[in-house]
Amino acid sequence: MPRNPAIARTLKSLREITLRYRNRGETIAVIPTMGALHRGHLALVRLARRRAQRVVVSIFVNPTQFAPTEDFGSYPRTFESDVGALAAEKVDLVWAPGPKVMYPEGFSARIDPGGPALAGLEDTFRPHFFGGVATVVAKLFIQTGADIAVFGEKDYQQLKVVTAMARDLDIPIRVLGLPTVREPDGLALSSRNAYLSAAERAVAPLLHRVLTDCAARISGGAPIGRTLAAGRRQIERAGFVPDYLEARNAETLAPVTSLRDGPLRLLVAARLGRTRLIDNVAV
Ligand code: PAJ
Repeated sequence: MPRNPAIARTLKSLREITLRYRNRGETIAVIPTMGALHRGHLALVRLARRRAQRVVVSIFVNPTQFAPTEDFGSYPRTFESDVGALAAEKVDLVWAPGPKVMYPEGFSARIDPGGPALAGLEDTFRPHFFGGVATVVAKLFIQTGADIAVFGEKDYQQLKVVTAMARDLDIPIRVLGLPTVREPDGLALSSRNAYLSAAERAVAPLLHRVLTDCAARISGGAPIGRTLAAGRRQIERAGFVPDYLEARNAETLAPVTSLRDGPLRLLVAARLGRTRLIDNVAV
């Protein structure tokens, strides 16, 4: 029988529990999530289990990273089954603050990240996104006092933004990235895949196929600009509306013109019907 994790809904109870871990000299890993957990999230938990003695998973659908036109209201909320899945992974503690606990009356601080948060990728299409993410993730790091945090490469720019944020603010935490967990047909697991119709779900894996094809061509010496333009046409023909398909330096996210500007990462975001999908691969 898996043991249910403790659930903290107030800062007081979070602190009591994490202080107990600390007093026993135990290391703590935190995995920030918005719930609607899938195998990708659980892979982060498994890495955390190997790297720290105590694993804390936060579940908080963060309003400040959604634009008014985005899916905050309809974002899937599946708390009971999330806790069941986390129990099976032997998670110690679920940190589930309500919006008033995270953002009490009068809350007015905001982290305004630069560097990778201004790379001209997600930030161009979701201008408020990384400010909301950096602020809530800084709070989660400070609230839990974790030694380690685990994030997915699925949200590659986010991984770079939170890594830079922790470094720049001297938060003593090590941020680890985990490769994207995929369906057998290549589609990156995402809580938003639930929005796809059956017809869209059948088309969706093309995004990853085009990325891996482009990566293979570019690493074989094909010109980057022309290869990505052809990839973009291919996903458009399949019914996607691309926001971007770009090659960037994998560390700085700076634009690149040749393999010599590498290591390279290809990143894509595209809408399929009402669902916005993102993905990325190494070259
Ligand atoms: P969420 O979309 O729930 O993702 C939580 C974590 O799971 C992120 O680090 C994300 O990169 C990772 N993840 C999602 N799908 C994955 C996959 N297929 N393979 C591997 N990892 C995957 O990202 C957020 O929440 C929020 O922005 C958050 C960081 C919690 C701040 O609110």
